[in-house]
Amino acid sequence: MLLDISREEDLAFAVAALRRGELVAFPTETVYGLGADGFNEDACRAIYAAKGRPSDNPLILHIADMSDLRDIAEEIPEAAVDLAEAFWPGPLTLVLKKRKVVSNTVSGGLDTVAVRMPDNDLARTLIRALGHPLAGPSANVSGHPSPTLAAHVAHDFGDHIAGVVDGGPCRVGVESTIVDLTTSPYAILRPGGIPRARIEALIGPVTMAGPTAADEAPKAPGMKYRHYAPEAPAYLLTGERRAERILVRLADAPRPVGMLIADETLAGLGEIEPEVFVWNMGSFAHPEDAAHRLFEGLRRMDAIGVKEIYIDAWPRVGIGEALMNRIDKLSQPWCWNKEDPS
Ligand code: TXA
Ligand code: MG
Repeated sequence: MLLDISREEDLAFAVAALRRGELVAFPTETVYGLGADGFNEDACRAIYAAKGRPSDNPLILHIADMSDLRDIAEEIPEAAVDLAEAFWPGPLTLVLKKRKVVSNTVSGGLDTVAVRMPDNDLARTLIRALGHPLAGPSANVSGHPSPTLAAHVAHDFGDHIAGVVDGGPCRVGVESTIVDLTTSPYAILRPGGIPRARIEALIGPVTMAGPTAADEAPKAPGMKYRHYAPEAPAYLLTGERRAERILVRLADAPRPVGMLIADETLAGLGEIEPEVFVWNMGSFAHPEDAAHRLFEGLRRMDAIGVKEIYIDAWPRVGIGEALMNRIDKLSQPWCWNKEDPS
């Protein structure tokens, strides 16, 4: 059920459902979250079951006010205060030592907790009305692209959850940056909506967690699982002369075929035939537009049932780093001919 919690009846319905231990999805500026009462362990367990999520992949607790932080985190270093003051509410998640009130179901058995204050009035209204933090992973079935519209959540969960608070399209479109403040040096576990440079400007150099080897304990447990994958194989377009090279490939690509490409690539393609589906990601000069459009484009390609997807690589600067982190995970390099592997 779609909920409009600016109406008192809908807010009361959502809060009552959460208090009963049911799940209510909520909008944030990054992606929609699948919410449960963060202090109700059974409700948090239900999140794992609904998503098909492995139980060692912990949940983020979403808070509405700075005072909520001290209820759930044990040690709050100065760097946490600096980052929170600069970027909350916003697309930043802090990993801190947890208090006992944070269950092992939320923390995935770790002694830390991930906390974030979302930059969305509806989300914070819901958290305040509930009076507890909202546990919430992205509101997609595990392995599906993250949801950036209420309709995406409804598609994945239908009537299996109590409702979806409709907040329209998510502004940022990729998930939050996760910073672990329990290690020395501090570490970015997942690039996201706040670029690394802005974090380092405040707290100094941080390490960036690379891909986790299979036999190594992952830093952000979620990073080891297959993510964001559309149904069809996706091929990454890099290097020069992309339009020219796609046109050669299109001659024998199976139909329907999909493309998530930039204005600059699209400009070179000429007239597009009907069985070729283009999702325009905007200009290379504006990676924030591409981040905003990525997950919706992937879901459209799934809905159309394309057989192959071609996707532009973006400059890895600013939010382009988070964008390419997602794109790298869902695509494989495309080699258009053996003499020219660019
Ligand atoms: O933008 C976001 O962060 C969205 C919105 C809904 O807030 N949420 C989100 O949640 O992306 P999820 O569950 O899809 O991803 C959370 C990531 C996972 O990779 C998880 O392993 C990691 O955060 N994580 C959670 N708690 C952690 C902890 N205590 N230590 C290390 N990593 C943690
Ligand atoms: Mg997720």
